[in-house]
Amino acid sequence: MSDLQGKVAIVTGGAAGIGRATARLFAQAGARVVVADRAEAAAQAVVAEIEQAGGEALFQRVDVSREEDCAAMVEAAVARFGRLDIAFNNAGIPGRVARTEDQGLAHWHRIIDVNLTGVFHCMVHELRAMKAHGGAIVNTASVAGVRGAPYSSAYAASKHGVIGLTRSAAREYGRYGIRINAICPGVVKTAMADELAAASLPGSSDALLAASILRRPGEPEEAAELVLWLCSDKASFVAGANYMVDGGLTA
Ligand code: NAI
Repeated sequence: MSDLQGKVAIVTGGAAGIGRATARLFAQAGARVVVADRAEAAAQAVVAEIEQAGGEALFQRVDVSREEDCAAMVEAAVARFGRLDIAFNNAGIPGRVARTEDQGLAHWHRIIDVNLTGVFHCMVHELRAMKAHGGAIVNTASVAGVRGAPYSSAYAASKHGVIGLTRSAAREYGRYGIRINAICPGVVKTAMADELAAASLPGSSDALLAASILRRPGEPEEAAELVLWLCSDKASFVAGANYMVDGGLTA
């Protein structure tokens, strides 16, 4: 497999879950990968895994809610690998499971800062680095980006925002050869899904899975395969789109 041979990619939230699976798959496909995360030890472990498998990777500490971190992340990619072709803006947090009136303003701001403003900060700097030669960006939304998520309204608002941001930027940057798309995972087996299941109303995760077509949670690698395809030249006619990878939850 060499879909990304010679390309340079950033993966935010690359230390765990969907980001880790994608960083590994990007490297297997031939990309040099910046594993960007606030969790240093776990991200360093992903870099080591990639290097042991014969790939090239770099750890960059980033809190995506801080613009200076996102600027430094793009600078580090270009300084080490010479360019930036691909970005998977995926870092996110689940937030509190509570009625809208109990979500709390500080919590609201934190969710929006990480899940939505974080994607914005990353894109601003990635777009500047890609404008001269083109590229591909994928942002992680959620099934909560296309429908209501009861007791998670701040999270759902942040993910609806990611889709609006993706579509709008895609319409601006197609002329520069930059394709921007979003993915909407359903229930994928990661720490975040475990956290949400533990905090949810009893039986609600089971009910969610029972309502899906495939009736099981996804593996992080199953989401990563979609991201790889969207970032490869095989998806050359795909821009401003929003792909479900949810086992049929929203069908
Ligand atoms: P995860 O919790 O396994 O991994 C998230 C990673 O993001 C962690 O390594 C964490 O350290 C990092 N991160 C969190 N906040 C950060 C910040 N401010 N700056 C930098 N890094 C930060 O979660 P998972 O499930 O892999 O989630 C990835 C994305 O997928 C998120 O955007 C999430 O909202 C989305 N998603 C996940 C679903 C699931 O069922 N697992 C369903 C729908 C969407």
